[in-house]
Amino acid sequence: MNINRPPLGWNSWNTFGGNISEDMILRSADVMVESGLKECGYEYIVIDDCWAMKERDKDGRLVADPVKFPHGMKYVADYIHSKGLKFGMYSCAGYWTCAGYPGSFEYEWIDAKTFAEWGVDFLKYDYCYHTPNVSAETLYRRMGLALANSGRDILFSACSWGSDYTRQWVKSTGAHMWRSTGDIVDSWASIKSLAQSQIVFQEYNGQGSFNDMDMLVVGMNGKGNVGVGGCTFEEYKLHFSLWALLSSPLMIGCDIRNMSDETKKILMNKEVLKINQDPACREPFFVLDRRLKINENRKPDEPFYSNLEKELPIIAKFLDNGDIAIGLFNFTESKAGWGSHFLVDTIGLPITSGKTLELTDLWSGEKIYPLNGVVKIYECDPHSCRLFRAKIIDLK
Ligand code: GAL
Repeated sequence: MNINRPPLGWNSWNTFGGNISEDMILRSADVMVESGLKECGYEYIVIDDCWAMKERDKDGRLVADPVKFPHGMKYVADYIHSKGLKFGMYSCAGYWTCAGYPGSFEYEWIDAKTFAEWGVDFLKYDYCYHTPNVSAETLYRRMGLALANSGRDILFSACSWGSDYTRQWVKSTGAHMWRSTGDIVDSWASIKSLAQSQIVFQEYNGQGSFNDMDMLVVGMNGKGNVGVGGCTFEEYKLHFSLWALLSSPLMIGCDIRNMSDETKKILMNKEVLKINQDPACREPFFVLDRRLKINENRKPDEPFYSNLEKELPIIAKFLDNGDIAIGLFNFTESKAGWGSHFLVDTIGLPITSGKTLELTDLWSGEKIYPLNGVVKIYECDPHSCRLFRAKIIDLK
C-alpha cells in the first residue's frame, strides 16, 4: 500500500481521551460529512486509546469495551464506511497501551488479523510499556509486516514520538507516517516548541512516510483532554499553516460536532489544504534572512543558525505546478517583520531570470509583489504568520 499525500482526518484523543463512545464516534462521522470536512479531503475517523476491555478473550483477541461500543467495532467500521469515510484504530507496541489497555506485543499477527476483519483502514501504533529486550525498529517491523499481510490495506501510523532515532529506521518498517514529536497540548507554548523542534527532521519527510507533528488542537479552545489554556485564533491559524506547510498529516483534534465558524474557517481553508496536499510533496526548506550571520560551526544536528531563524523563520516549499508555498512565522512576543531581509534570490529566483513573484496571502487573499527583488513584509503580529502561494511572473 502506498500513501502519496499526508493523511487527513480526525482523532478522538485530544478532546475525548478515554471518554469515548459509539454514539460520539458515529455522530462525528456524520458531522465529518455534513459540515463539509469530507469535501475538503478529511477522510479518517480514528479511535485512539481506551476502546478495549482490559483482558483479551480466550483466543487471545482484543475485545471492544461493550459499554462504550455496544455493537462492536465491525458495526462502527461499517457505519463509517457507509459515509464514504475510513476507519482508524489504535494499539501499542508494548505490553500495554499508554492508558493501560492490552498492547499488541507478541500478539501482532492476531491483532492485525482482528483489525482487518473489523474493517480497519488505519492503525496508530504507540510505544508505551515496550520491552527493553527487542529493539524499537524490530517492534515496529513486526506490526508493519503483520499489517501488510493482513489481507486489507491498513495505513500504518507509527507513534514512537521520534524516540530511539525513529527517523533512521521508521521507513523500513512500512510506516506511512511517523510521529516526529512528543504529545501536543492546547497551548501556544506547545505549538511553538513542537514547531521549532521539527526543523532538523525535514530531510526525512515526504512520500512514503510523512513526518507527523501530532494531532491538531485547532478549535479546542481550552476544552477537553489536552485542553490546557487554549490558543487565540491567530495562534491556531499559525499552527494550521505550519503543519500544512511542513506536510504533516492533519488530524483534527477538536469536537467537530461543535465547531465555531472561526474553527471551520481554519480547518476548511482549501488553499492552505492544497499546500499540504500538493502532489509533489517536496521537502520544505528554510529561506535565509539577510540579517542572519551564518554560524559556520553549526553541528549537523543543531537546528538553527541563530535565534532569528528560530523566532522569525521563513519556510518555503516548491509545489508541483512550479509555484512556491512561503510561510513567514512570528514566534516572538512583539510585532516583527522582514521589511528588507527576504530576497527572492534566496529561494532560487535570480534577478537575471527576468521574473519575479506574485504572492497571494492564503488567509486574506491580499496580493503582494516584491520591490527590487525584496519581499517586503512589515508588522506581523506576535504569534501570527503570513502564508502565501507564490506564482512566478514576468518582471515588468
Ligand atoms: C500517547 C500518544 C498520544 C495518545 C496517547 C494515548 O503516547 O502520543 O497521541 O495516543 O498516548 O494514551
